[in-house]
Amino acid sequence: MTQDDMKKAAAQAALEYVGSGGVIGVGTGSTANYFIDALATIKGRIDGAVASSNATAERLKKYGIPVVDLNATGSLKLYVDGADEATRHLHLIKGGGGALTREKIIAAASETFVCVADETKLADVLGKFPLPIEVIPMARSYVAREIVKLGGEPVLRQGFTTDNGNVILDVYNLNILNPVELERTLNQIAGAVTNGLFAHRPADVLILGTKTGVQTLK
Ligand code: A5P
Repeated sequence: MTQDDMKKAAAQAALEYVGSGGVIGVGTGSTANYFIDALATIKGRIDGAVASSNATAERLKKYGIPVVDLNATGSLKLYVDGADEATRHLHLIKGGGGALTREKIIAAASETFVCVADETKLADVLGKFPLPIEVIPMARSYVAREIVKLGGEPVLRQGFTTDNGNVILDVYNLNILNPVELERTLNQIAGAVTNGLFAHRPADVLILGTKTGVQTLK
């Protein structure tokens, strides 16, 4: 069983959370892409999807799934997305694909956030994966200095601009023993648009593809 097989199995299992009618939120990344592929097989069940990135919007449209503006939907029943790291408390690091800001908005606007991932993403403590922070370009140096004060090592993601026209700092060596507190602290830095900690609004369900089958944590 490869990592891709485990991602696919988790994505497929998320279909059971898709109700009838309504609009759902769809995330970004390879596991979310597998979810879109699976969703296409039952696309008649939903009215459309809110996309967390331009790439996801393109993939949804390719399957003929209507892409809807979040401003037109009210709160969403369901959001399905991947993660770069996840704990058993369902705290996540996201943003490896650079779509963290729209992902955090959709997660916040959704009643149920189902995270789909393979077992390699499960961690006892977050932080082995560098924490992405989306930053307004003019604030890049300032935000980097503030992060150094917190003990992190920020590295500019080279040649990358987000869908919102911003840059990403990937932060190494942060001590993320209290993700809720760190998320709040990082949110106070002027010019930092979004940090990739999903702890204040964690996942509600984590579907993990493992070598021995799919496991669901709630
Ligand atoms: C996108 O910005 C991220 O938050 C993704 O959810 C994350 O990178 C997971 O990607 P994979 O499913 O490709 O591992």
